[in-house]
Amino acid sequence: MIKGWCCYSIGPVTQPGSIGARNVIKVGLGAAIHNMALAASRIGRAAVASVLPDAANPLHVARIELGPEGALAPPHPLLSAIGQRHTHRGTWTGAPLAADVLARVMAFPLAAGLAISTFAANSPRGLRFAGLTRDATAAIVDDAEMSADGHAWFRHSRRDQDRFMDGVGIATSGVSPTLAFAGAMLPAQSAADSGRYWLASTIETALPTASAFGLITVADPWDRRGALLAGMAWQRLHLQATALGLVAQPLNQLPEMIDRERQLGRAPKFAQAADKLLEDVTKRPTFAFRLGRAAQSAPASPRRPVSMVIGSPARIGYDVDRARAETAASDAALNAVRP
Ligand SMILES: Cc1cc2nc3c(=O)[nH]c(=O)nc-3n(C[C@H](O)[C@H](O)[C@H](O)COP(=O)(O)O)c2cc1C
Repeated sequence: MIKGWCCYSIGPVTQPGSIGARNVIKVGLGAAIHNMALAASRIGRAAVASVLPDAANPLHVARIELGPEGALAPPHPLLSAIGQRHTHRGTWTGAPLAADVLARVMAFPLAAGLAISTFAANSPRGLRFAGLTRDATAAIVDDAEMSADGHAWFRHSRRDQDRFMDGVGIATSGVSPTLAFAGAMLPAQSAADSGRYWLASTIETALPTASAFGLITVADPWDRRGALLAGMAWQRLHLQATALGLVAQPLNQLPEMIDRERQLGRAPKFAQAADKLLEDVTKRPTFAFRLGRAAQSAPASPRRPVSMVIGSPARIGYDVDRARAETAASDAALNAVRP
């Protein structure tokens, strides 16, 4: 009988490059952990997730314990939303969302230390958010390392999508299906071209066609536990929005630039500007997003099969990765003491 799952982060505890500036991978893992726990109700099992259960192993990000077999936990009402939930990067209607709809999107228990706020896109706060997101996007495009790190997730060809089974492709980039078809015939774009396209689509599509923007805030965005919990909250919010027929997209450029300034020891220009968006300045933005309605649903992103991420093959992959990281660390330590 399966008693539960342990979830491990593969790779180094600290990510290299500009991605290391933030806990973005932990936020993503939090989202996956949320859905794994929720999906347990599909097999009639209740699930309790605990984050960072092993202080001695920082790669052990969560333990999901399943309730007794045969207890027949009812299917979670959001179960079907998991398969329908996709990041929507396209053009939306911009129609305002009624306050009660926004309240329903956010009607779920929030872990201690987290806060979520949403605000209309055409409110003074919404306009300020849009301006800062535009400036943060331009700053990322101008930052060669951030630009290259982001571009590394772009899968231009079908071959790369099938090989990596992750990332963003032309079909999920927000362009129309016709343009996606035509774009797939063209040669791969450079990081600079992709950056220019991303800035233009942020200014012309993502910001002006959103109905509302939102922020998830935590006391310390660099805290790993907070990042995992923020990812879980984001996922719940996105599922609730999906179940209500809404669409959503992370627009994380502002938190990314706040972290980048901190990583490089630069003046906290974006962090200070973000203060004006916050109800409580002791909590800092860790995740930003847009919400709204769209005439068309978004296509699904590439996915790895469950067998690649759960069970023995995943465990072997994890052990091999861990052994490699340990060997690299001990080699580095030996080299450091050599005269
Ligand atoms: C921490 C985090 C930050 C993200 N930031 C962005 C973002 O700024 N813009 C965007 O379009 N998608 C962003 N995403 C969405 C991911 O790219 C997306 O979840 C992934 O491609 C899988 O696609 P799916 O959500 O459709 O399943 C982010 C996701 C996470 C977890």
